[in-house]
Amino acid sequence: MPDSIVPQCHVVIASGDQDWREQLRERLAAAELAVGEDRRYTLSFSAVADEKALLEVAREDGLLQAVIIDARHMQPARDLLTDVRGVRSEVDLFLAMPAGQDAGDVAAQLLERDDTRADVLLRRVRSAVSRRARTPFADTLREYVQGARDAWHTPGHSSGDGLRESPWVADFYRLMGEHVFNADLSVSVQELDSLLEPSHVIQEAQDLAARAFGARETFFVTSGTSMANKVIVQHVLGEGGKMLVDQACHKSVHHAAILFGVNPVYLPASVNSRYGLYGPVARDTILDAIDAHPDAKLLVLTSSSYDGFYYDLAPIIVRAHERGMRVLVDEAWYAHGYFHPALRPCALECGADYVTQSTHKMLSAFSQASMIHVGDPNFDEARFREHLNMHTSTSPQYGLIASLDVARKQMSMEGYARLTRCIAHAEELRRGIDETGRFRVLTLEEMLPSELRGDGIRLDPLKLTIDVSASGCSARQIQRALYERYAIQVEKVTHNTLSVLVTLGTTQSKVLRLLNALRSLAREPCDAETPVHRAPTLPALGEICQLPRSAYFGATRQLPLTDDHHGINRELIGRTAADQVVPYPPGIPVLVPGQRISEDVLHFLLDLLHGDDDSELHGVLRAEGPPRIRVVA
Ligand SMILES: Cc1ncc(COP(=O)(O)O)c(C=O)c1O
Repeated sequence: MPDSIVPQCHVVIASGDQDWREQLRERLAAAELAVGEDRRYTLSFSAVADEKALLEVAREDGLLQAVIIDARHMQPARDLLTDVRGVRSEVDLFLAMPAGQDAGDVAAQLLERDDTRADVLLRRVRSAVSRRARTPFADTLREYVQGARDAWHTPGHSSGDGLRESPWVADFYRLMGEHVFNADLSVSVQELDSLLEPSHVIQEAQDLAARAFGARETFFVTSGTSMANKVIVQHVLGEGGKMLVDQACHKSVHHAAILFGVNPVYLPASVNSRYGLYGPVARDTILDAIDAHPDAKLLVLTSSSYDGFYYDLAPIIVRAHERGMRVLVDEAWYAHGYFHPALRPCALECGADYVTQSTHKMLSAFSQASMIHVGDPNFDEARFREHLNMHTSTSPQYGLIASLDVARKQMSMEGYARLTRCIAHAEELRRGIDETGRFRVLTLEEMLPSELRGDGIRLDPLKLTIDVSASGCSARQIQRALYERYAIQVEKVTHNTLSVLVTLGTTQSKVLRLLNALRSLAREPCDAETPVHRAPTLPALGEICQLPRSAYFGATRQLPLTDDHHGINRELIGRTAADQVVPYPPGIPVLVPGQRISEDVLHFLLDLLHGDDDSELHGVLRAEGPPRIRVVA
């Protein structure tokens, strides 16, 4: 490996005893030199005298990988460990104990304080850092690919040999690159373990992920959080059962209600009509629902939402647990939350029983690669395995599994530094966009309906919602201009906002290009021919009058959404929806199976159908004839 890319790791020694800390630092540095050239990373050592200096290092030093605390001269050591953990969830913590003294139950690895064998101490530190720096599955996959075995097994492209020489499809092979095919293997390769019954390299990778994300156990998922949510609902509720769920949850949760015959109690999401955003559910609404439905077994919340709202979860989870409910937090958009103090606490830290995360959304995994983290102290792994496997392909994509392993390693080794940079990029964007005078990034106060202001809800700084209304253009126009003239693709639009995500892949040059494009667009007059569309008012949640499962699977009819005069079809009012109807974005259903159809919903859908934008409307049947929806017969 060329020197320039050998990673640097820092270790800090904290002790009030100057001689001890300096001597240890020098001895460890000398032992590290003796390790020689053959290192996958280098360690360097510094020393601090007190807690304040230690916490400053933890906050400022993105390369920090390990902390050694002198238990004799840094008291109380236990609190100090907690404080360092509060800043850095990932680093290895060591407590140097005087001989014969009992450390009790501490969340740190123990070293003997007066052990003079620096090489042994160094090995302990290196072994801990190396463990996190491993990618057991991805390493084995790489070795296997490099071994260039002849494949007499699935997949049929056989390491790409089926395409490489073809005059018709070799271009696809070249586009994707040889290793996409070489690494696309199957369960026939036993060295690569089995996702359905992991026992070695996948299990090790999952164990490392559990430790990195703060879970009791972690499971890799290759069909996204869409699948993960269904698995948890099935696991906790089985067939039937009642769950409390925020209305703005992802459609996979609604699908789970259909599949498993669940009785959902929908908690009304707040609505910001000015910007066309669904927000969180008010805390009192959640707490009241928990009290009012003691027979519910599961509470499902989304935190953070697509737009970045995240709950103050701890008091809600405490109340749910008091009533014997399990809590699933959908953190599809918040897999990064545990790795930076500005984003914590994440759901597991607040006591969630199950957390689903799309590792692919904000971190570096491939699309569809997600994780399920378990916090439930009464977790029944054998039952869970059955539920999980029921939804898992018997031919999972090995590249996805490797990417989960690598994404975990990245967060564990450099997540803090990367997120610090992401937060700085987001601040630069926010400042620069506000300075255009015509575009501005919305604040939490502007996005959150006023009745939720006291609920401790926060906004993920990496999700920026840009208000374009002062420009006189619609967000759709700005989106198109960014794409067509500046080759910039944003995450989503409402009628007057654009959303961009700052992720691990955001670079300084992308920040500059986006700012330059917005500055130029801010100077241009808007194309007056295209009227700015008002947002259709998001409809309130309607009454649920039938189980989603029976509405979906029972006898149904298709009725048109409009009448002969292009108004709403009044025949639909009061009927029961049989499908989800989901405008995308934001992907939140306005109708779910079993919901009574209101006049408001119909007007909303009609506005969307007549609107200018290209937004999708899932659940509306459009083939042959006027747009229709399925209703219970
Ligand atoms: C809140 C929420 N949960 C779950 C999902 C599904 O995640 P995935 O795309 O990983 O299946 C999404 C997707 O956008 C989402 O927004």
